[in-house]
Amino acid sequence: MEVFRLDPAEVTRCLEAARATPAAERERVIERARTALPLDVDEMAILWTAPLDADEVYAIALEARSRRPRRLETFSPLYLTNTCDAECLMCGMRRDNDALRRETADPEATESQLDLLQRRGMHGVALLTGEYRTDRRAWMLERVNRALRATQARGFRHVLVNVGSLDDEEYPALLDGVARRPDGAVAAKVTMCTFQETYSRSHYARFMGSDADNPRADYERRLTNFDRARAAGFRVANPGILVGLNPDLGFELIALARHARHLLDRGMEVYLSVPRLRQIAGRSSVRGTDDPSFLRLVSILSVGLPGAKVVLTTREPATIQRRLVPLVHVLSAGSSALAPYTAEGAHFPLEASQFEVIDQRPFEQVLADHARPEEPIENFERTPRITPPAP
Ligand code: SAH
Ligand code: TRP
Ligand code: SF4
Repeated sequence: MEVFRLDPAEVTRCLEAARATPAAERERVIERARTALPLDVDEMAILWTAPLDADEVYAIALEARSRRPRRLETFSPLYLTNTCDAECLMCGMRRDNDALRRETADPEATESQLDLLQRRGMHGVALLTGEYRTDRRAWMLERVNRALRATQARGFRHVLVNVGSLDDEEYPALLDGVARRPDGAVAAKVTMCTFQETYSRSHYARFMGSDADNPRADYERRLTNFDRARAAGFRVANPGILVGLNPDLGFELIALARHARHLLDRGMEVYLSVPRLRQIAGRSSVRGTDDPSFLRLVSILSVGLPGAKVVLTTREPATIQRRLVPLVHVLSAGSSALAPYTAEGAHFPLEASQFEVIDQRPFEQVLADHARPEEPIENFERTPRITPPAP
């Protein structure tokens, strides 16, 4: 099967051609975007390089989206452990971060967290771990498989698997006991998530390392993970970029768009994540990305790839959520700490979390902020208020 390859020179050429586009042609592309006509990746590059400020691009995206409304959906993250064998510089879970308190949830604790989420009306969940070297891979696969089967037994409607990339021969262990369709594909909605973080090989090496013993440092292995996942039965892929690693956001946008096209063309359903870099335990500052650049990025993904679903998380403050929810399909709310959920909310201890979550309100409240009464939120059921007993 043909796997995804990325030639950086093609991405650069696409952006250069976009910059050289005559004004009349550029206007035609802007008009297509505004009226929600399909755009190809070259046209997305023309929008990115157009002399428009962030608010103008945002207005175009809003208008396009108002012509193709879609219901909002949600899920919450659930970390099975905060251990990791990798060394990604930006991440609180990297193995040499002494400021992190390492914890692994017992399978029973994970299952009661799943029960708690469902009692609170949440029926979508992302399962997360670190990425491991050969000696701990089987352990991780066993834990994730057990949690995955627990979600299936409970009827979760969407489960995302965010556990690093896997080799062909590891997928059967991950999916052992998970129901299949007659064609061999996974029956339930289960999504493979591996964000490339940056599609620039030099930035990738700078942050993820280049040690041959560290599987996370292998750019190509990461890049081709969805092709292996698809061969193993996954129908849904979630690539993404960690916004803030590479200051050249145009490069990241075009590379991500090409990756999304590859996956859509192979019949996969596609979610797109654009997490912004946040504070971690043991470090005092983060180099982030400014709001206008982030707004442009999300606007152009939303306009250009209506077949993919952009995911926004509570890494973003409520103010940014309010502006961007009309452009995205998914708003994910929760905590990146271990077994964090309580009956009413969640804990957010930075010293046990992957990164800082900005919006720490209970997910019921986050979602209530965006729900229109006539439009249900997919994978979330507002639990009935407990009415006081009649006198
Ligand atoms: N260990 C798995 C799961 C990662 S968690 C893996 O690496 O694939 C999901 C995502 O969190 C990462 O892919 C990365 O995009 C994001 N992340 C890492 N560090 C972060 C930080 N400091 N702020 C915000 N997001 C971060
Ligand atoms: N990092 C994961 C992701 O972006 C987990 C996650 C999803 C998350 N939603 C979140 C972490 C909300 C904290 C808050 O997919
Ligand atoms: Fe580990 Fe994932 Fe963090 Fe890298 S991003 S250090 S693999 S948890």
